[in-house]
Amino acid sequence: MTSPSSDAFVFFGATGDLAYKKIFPALQAMIQAGELDMPIIGVAHAGWGREQLQERAKSSLDEYGGFDDVAFARLTAQLKYIDGDYNDAATYSQLRQTLGEAQRPLHYMAIPPSMFSTVAQGLAKAGCTKGARIVVEKPFGRDLASAKALNRTLHKVFPESSIFRIDHYLGKGAVQNLLYFRFANTFLEPIWNRTYVDSVQITMAESFGVEGRGSFYEETGALRDVVQNHLLQITALLAMDTPIGHDAAAMSDEKLRVFQAMRPLDPREVVRGQFKGYRQEKGVAPKSQVETFAALRLHIDTWRWAGVPFYIRAGKCLPLTTTEVMVNLKRPPLSVFDEITPAQSNYFRFRLSPEVVISAGARVKQAGEAMRGEAVELIARHQPSQEEQPYRRLLGDAIRGDASQFTSDACVERAWAVIDPALGGAEPVHEYAAGSWGPALAADLVTKGGDWHDPRAEATTPC
Ligand code: BG6
Repeated sequence: MTSPSSDAFVFFGATGDLAYKKIFPALQAMIQAGELDMPIIGVAHAGWGREQLQERAKSSLDEYGGFDDVAFARLTAQLKYIDGDYNDAATYSQLRQTLGEAQRPLHYMAIPPSMFSTVAQGLAKAGCTKGARIVVEKPFGRDLASAKALNRTLHKVFPESSIFRIDHYLGKGAVQNLLYFRFANTFLEPIWNRTYVDSVQITMAESFGVEGRGSFYEETGALRDVVQNHLLQITALLAMDTPIGHDAAAMSDEKLRVFQAMRPLDPREVVRGQFKGYRQEKGVAPKSQVETFAALRLHIDTWRWAGVPFYIRAGKCLPLTTTEVMVNLKRPPLSVFDEITPAQSNYFRFRLSPEVVISAGARVKQAGEAMRGEAVELIARHQPSQEEQPYRRLLGDAIRGDASQFTSDACVERAWAVIDPALGGAEPVHEYAAGSWGPALAADLVTKGGDWHDPRAEATTPC
């Protein structure tokens, strides 16, 4: 946290989709907050000039960023553009020149993962890495072996303390609140373990398909796209022990311990699905075996979590778009009044998107004579939607050198080690109807605590 701030912001992939949807809006927000007073250099290979990039930035902000003419004028004044091939040394010498007096540039790789190594090496050869930081997008590798190879390449050029592996889920306010809620409340700690927790469920559902990203998805699939990173990161935040502080080292130490204790997946505890119609998408092989849905049962072999299954599922073309965590508590040891089924026992619910909810499920007596109960939710936080600026938050952190919400080399490798056994594709992929909750077989994974929780659309009344 004491390291000096970066003094130039370079982003590779400036003409791409991620820049359009997320980075320009994040840059505008940082400018509005006075956090980005430095040269901004876009790099891409598109045959464009600076004016075209400026136009692109404008339409990005119109569509995604709430265009602000004052901030935009400052953005364009700071914006430079380099059009060049990432394999060509001239691109990097031009960058070196454009950086001018800057001593501590931040290089953001918003590019396909296959180019990370090439760009890192190009930067080094042109002398653009001294005092620099690098922000690397996900997926970081495509399995354990490639993640290790990528770490080795990056480490030849950057020290680990200058490498920021970004996972935008860690920049979401709701995810940060999950972390905060866990470690800012005394009442949770005594029950946050195998004695009281029966099972944990994490659902990341998307009601849309691959949206024209067929060829990207063919290379990825749900396990690599969102489970290895977003959902294992959420699992780590739920399961980790208390860090001794919130700096990067303390966070990373505790996360790593929990990643190390995650048992590598048993392919028999993984169900892969593919929505009907996926094979007709542009860029998708007619006999594709790539999963657009994955459900799995994960075990964490620590004193705290032994015997508590973590059920995780993610998929495209599901009934709605939401990410929700359920921490299901055990039933009372005796039913003194009415019988309480596993599905009726207490729980904590973290709705991470689109709304933000933190609530506890409890039972109270119904009105009337009988000692019969009903379910209620004690709502600690209910926002209709979250402020959605994870990129702004994380890029700002990277500029300031705060790595606490980024992923270390060891954590990213351990997360791959967990997923690796399920990546071979030896297990069949099961077709499911768009709009369903995935293949019926996924239900068999849930052996404790009832069934998969059904995250319904929320009523959006703020409290
Ligand atoms: C990305 C995945 O990392 O996260 C996408 O590549 C997915 O497939 C997206 O749709 C979801 O992010 P968010 O912030 O919209 O929940």
